[in-house]
Amino acid sequence: MDRPVAIRWKDAFDVGNAEIDQQHQEIFNKANAFLDAVGIAALTEYSLGFFQYTRDHFSLEEGLMRSIDYPAIEVHIQQHKELVERLNEVAANIGGDDFSHRDLELFLTDWLLVHIRIYDTKLASYIARKQSGLPQSPQVQASQRQRQ
Ligand SMILES: [Fe+2]
Repeated sequence: MDRPVAIRWKDAFDVGNAEIDQQHQEIFNKANAFLDAVGIAALTEYSLGFFQYTRDHFSLEEGLMRSIDYPAIEVHIQQHKELVERLNEVAANIGGDDFSHRDLELFLTDWLLVHIRIYDTKLASYIARKQSGLPQSPQVQASQRQRQ
């Protein structure tokens, strides 16, 4: 189905961490399946698949952030929390008058792209620098000093 705003995976969305990138691609697949679903039963089923996968993915990222003492963990987790809250609202509205497919699509596209390209990219670059022994960016170093 051709939609006005397609959530299509592009290599440019790779954040450079194989596990996170692979899960992000799957999030895109599941978001598309959800947005393509027609009728309350299918919308409910695919929304559950999408929400579950997204929550598991957030847990993975959050576990990773804790294990490496990631300085921007709080802001990142707050972003995840807000998305989960918004998804819960969406789920509650499926089949109701307040459910707008178009709004959902715009919101999801915007959220996924902004979150991945800004927040997840920062996280992946922090991990890569830590693994290769390179110094962190000046911003990261400043926030590490603040936390000490
Ligand atoms: Fe994230």
